[in-house]
Amino acid sequence: MKKFTCAADIGPIEKAVADAMRIKADRFAWTGLGRNKTLMMVFFNSSLRTRLSTQKAAMNLGMNVIVLDVNQGAWKLETERGVIMDGDKAEHLLEAIPVMGCYCDIIGVRAFAGLTDRDDDYSEKVINQFIQYSGRPVFSMEAATGHPLQGYADLITIEEFKTKPRPKVVLTWAPHPRALPQAVPNSFAQWMLAADYDLVITHPEGYELCEDFTRGARIEYDQRRAFEGADFIYAKNWSAYSGDNYGKILSTDRDWTVDAAKMALTDNAYFMHCLPVRRNMIVTDEVIESDRSLVIPEAANREISAQAVLARMLESLK
Ligand code: CP
Repeated sequence: MKKFTCAADIGPIEKAVADAMRIKADRFAWTGLGRNKTLMMVFFNSSLRTRLSTQKAAMNLGMNVIVLDVNQGAWKLETERGVIMDGDKAEHLLEAIPVMGCYCDIIGVRAFAGLTDRDDDYSEKVINQFIQYSGRPVFSMEAATGHPLQGYADLITIEEFKTKPRPKVVLTWAPHPRALPQAVPNSFAQWMLAADYDLVITHPEGYELCEDFTRGARIEYDQRRAFEGADFIYAKNWSAYSGDNYGKILSTDRDWTVDAAKMALTDNAYFMHCLPVRRNMIVTDEVIESDRSLVIPEAANREISAQAVLARMLESLK
């Protein structure tokens, strides 16, 4: 596997799940696979889970790891071609990327959406430049429009906890004080649809996601109706995708916060969130601390999804 930016890159979903379960059974069975191989993780944005879980996954495979926080200690990078570089950006990404490629075998990139120009964000300019110019396999550690390592970990988690072959999974928008990208909900929808789950997406009007990611899901504007009979509730905030409202906050309505009364409408559903989460905005303390909350197993499975992806990339280097 030379790139990993979306669910389709992993191939058949059944095999992706089987690979993950094999890794979970013995994550140290492939310590020779990454011997003398180096992972470079390039962060343009902050992270807790992605940083730690991906590094741990690489260590499980015997890899060396270099972490570069672009905004702390590196030269400021210009990403636009054709710019006269007379400002504060000392280096262009088009030189920096192949240089980074000289020092490693696989590259992971985190580069969030700017949320001002939809076409620019959805062109995935930064990670595509890494794919084009690094000469190395490249995987997304959350790019502008997707977070596939999270989607894969969410799938693994649901496979572990589901009690029906085709569970009802509800992706619900919830309020947040800051404008957030659509990457996590986009990827969640993509992975749930790839697994052929019964996916319902609920949000206030105006928060429709890009149909390229959600085609096949049912959209329900009444959150309480969406929750009825659900097996899994996946909460997430995102900013608007549509037209002139791209990247904007259209609502902070706390009636959309996931609470115990709404969870009572479900079929004893599990609660999920990718973290970090704003308590009592997205979800109440009571729900996230309940025995139906899967936020920690979900985060733990980030190590597994990262290891599965790295193992595929290492195999492709042989
Ligand atoms: N869920 C997730 O990607 O967490 P971080 O932003 O902390 O990496």
